[in-house]
Amino acid sequence: MEVIITKTTDEASAFAAEIIERKLMSKPTAVLGLATGSTPLGLYKELVKRHREKGLDFSKVTTFNLDEYIGLSPSHPQSYRYFMEENLFKHINVPAGAIHVPYGHADSVLDFCAWYEDEIKRSGGIDIQILGIGGDGHIAFNEPGSSLGSRTRLKTLTEQTIRDNARFFSSMDEVPRFAITMGVGTILEARQIILLAFGASKADIIAEAIEGPVTSQVTASALQLHPDVTVCLDQPAAAKLKRADYYRWVFEQKRRLVPSLVSRAS
Ligand code: GLP
Repeated sequence: MEVIITKTTDEASAFAAEIIERKLMSKPTAVLGLATGSTPLGLYKELVKRHREKGLDFSKVTTFNLDEYIGLSPSHPQSYRYFMEENLFKHINVPAGAIHVPYGHADSVLDFCAWYEDEIKRSGGIDIQILGIGGDGHIAFNEPGSSLGSRTRLKTLTEQTIRDNARFFSSMDEVPRFAITMGVGTILEARQIILLAFGASKADIIAEAIEGPVTSQVTASALQLHPDVTVCLDQPAAAKLKRADYYRWVFEQKRRLVPSLVSRAS
């Protein structure tokens, strides 16, 4: 795991955008795994900016989103599909047919989930997966106790997640109780993973996920098993890490060796 600690969230977002830009330069047909939540907003802004200003091309890209609430239509303002349209898709040139977001109104969730898994395989697999982290350590909607080998499926949200996400709805009662989510096993098959976490409220869970034991009780800890994970944190989110000095030291050594690789973080 490579842990990058930046002074500001903008720097962390730009760092993640740089990784994606480099991937698209070397592989224009890259498959991107995308996340929702407030955390990746800066990254999406940065990608839109690079598309507008530098012509960063998404025309051959395929995307798969991590998750979607059950029961919300794609046009519902709190659906993840809507979120993605508003914050990324409508601002870049990714073809509509290449966009995949789990469908929260599927007649058979079981069939839909099997189809989604197959579609990821048919596309050649995810090249870069973007992740945020929930307050209870979930990635996508893999709540505590999710099998670390789990696949795309229906998941019941925890009370904490419902409380955390209530800020986007007019009341807690309106927050859906179920979601379709890629599994931890699905996520771990991505070739490269970028985990973003910002703010002091994420400090404890980030320390557990990165430096604690690998456990289904904190599904983000499964990322420790993946060979290519970059964790981009701002300073408040990194505040509880025991080895923060070492991560900074590693970064500093790399900066000396390959300045262009790491010039965006500090
Ligand atoms: C939801 C999403 C996760 C996201 C998490 C954190 O639960 N399913 O993918 O990582 O929220 O959200 P935020 O980035 O707003 O803290």
